[in-house]
Amino acid sequence: MKFTLLVIDDEKNIREGLAADFEMDGYDVKIAANGDEGLEFLSKGDIDLVITDLRMPGTSGEDVLKKVTREMPGIPVIVLTGHGSIDAAVSAMQNGAYDFLTKPLNLEHLELVVKRALKGRELSLQHQELLSEVKSKSSDNMIGKSPSLQKVNNLINKVADSKISILITGESGVGKEVVADAIQQKSSRRDKPFIKVHCAALSESLLESELFGHEKGAFTGAETLHKGKFELADGGTIFLDEIGEINPGVQVKLLRVLQEKKFERVGGEKTIEVDVRVISATNKTLEDEVKQKHFREDLYFRLKGIEIMVPPLRERKDDIPLLLNNFLLKYNKENNKNIKGFSNSAKNILFNYDWPGNVRELQHCVESAVVMASGDEIQAEDLTIKLEDKKNSSGILVPYGISLEDAEKMIILENLESNNGNKTKTADILKIGRKTLHRKLNEYGLVTSSGPEEE
Ligand SMILES: Nc1ncnc2c1ncn2[C@@H]1O[C@H](COP(=O)(O)OP(=O)(O)OP(=O)(O)O)[C@@H](O)[C@H]1O
Ligand SMILES: [Mg+2]
Repeated sequence: MKFTLLVIDDEKNIREGLAADFEMDGYDVKIAANGDEGLEFLSKGDIDLVITDLRMPGTSGEDVLKKVTREMPGIPVIVLTGHGSIDAAVSAMQNGAYDFLTKPLNLEHLELVVKRALKGRELSLQHQELLSEVKSKSSDNMIGKSPSLQKVNNLINKVADSKISILITGESGVGKEVVADAIQQKSSRRDKPFIKVHCAALSESLLESELFGHEKGAFTGAETLHKGKFELADGGTIFLDEIGEINPGVQVKLLRVLQEKKFERVGGEKTIEVDVRVISATNKTLEDEVKQKHFREDLYFRLKGIEIMVPPLRERKDDIPLLLNNFLLKYNKENNKNIKGFSNSAKNILFNYDWPGNVRELQHCVESAVVMASGDEIQAEDLTIKLEDKKNSSGILVPYGISLEDAEKMIILENLESNNGNKTKTADILKIGRKTLHRKLNEYGLVTSSGPEEE
């Protein structure tokens, strides 16, 4: 992939020098002597990254930066400032600059920053491609392209058309019901009844009559004959959700249906025969339940003709971008909004969070963020993920390949930023003296002697 850089600087030497240097590195480079010329290039498209001076006569670098972050998110902007003021730098970062460098420029450092920014740009382009794929495949309800979800998908395709019993396992919210739906949809029974029973929601006696039905007068209150779910599902599929919760009495009856396809209604003597495909799901480890004698081993093996294990989201983080975009589209539509994406700090949290509630939690998180967000992008503050989790997971993301010096610079700057530029507080948090902080800021060109002082 050949990238095009746009260099905007009113100093001829700098823009031409940078152009020559980056062309040698194999980039296409466009140069502009002021903000207006730069915006003209940008409006034609095809620019992948902007390097701009901050203070220029007319349209400033700040204006260019604001316009790009607002209208062309995804194009990183690197800001050059000759003034070395922490204020200008912090404000540029707050306005969405990818990074800033102070003049005189350290060319090697600039090259590194450009490389890193373009890596992110490449990912974001791939991301957009995937997004359009999601749109075109909206009939398929199972979103995700990670290798482990592909495996699940392959398994679904293999087993869908057979009659074998399927046991779907995985933590709460991973998408077990989504898998059950997909199996039903891909099976030849797709036009036949698909009956779902939530086993945990019913008491022992209710569950039995719910599954197998009851005769009129079978118990107090049974005023009419009631057909059970197995009868209603005849010819089709039954989905027994939370199968780990069923009691021993129902377990025996269920075993018989699986083995002989026969049962009697509660209070009845007539044997009823059905042809039903059984899919069950649980977030318990049934093997343990068997060991503890809570669950019949023979039933366990009958249910588990094939087991489909849906991995937790934290083990397939590649699925997160697709899921985020998919839910963003969904909730934009539902809420009549047009949010374009997630800010870098929001992404940082979303990608680093562990998602104990899996896809369900992520879905709810996006839904509430869409409702809360007021701008074009979902910000870190719009996310409901708990603060402790945010702190643990977001922190400061130090990229690979960065020098120790740059890492230190990043840590200092990010801490300064989150303390609104207050150096005393920042020094306290970093457990260094205020003088040391000053020296480092000077060394890194982050502040000049005329830099701002608080207190
Ligand atoms: N791969 C996926 N693509 C799109 N949506 C998904 C996916 N996986 C899960 N979801 C959504 O996440 C939510 C939870 O999924 P589901 O109900 O299937 O989870 P579950 O494993 O059955 O959870 P529980 O054990 O709590 O019953 C649903 O709204 C579902 O639509
Ligand atoms: Mg479920």
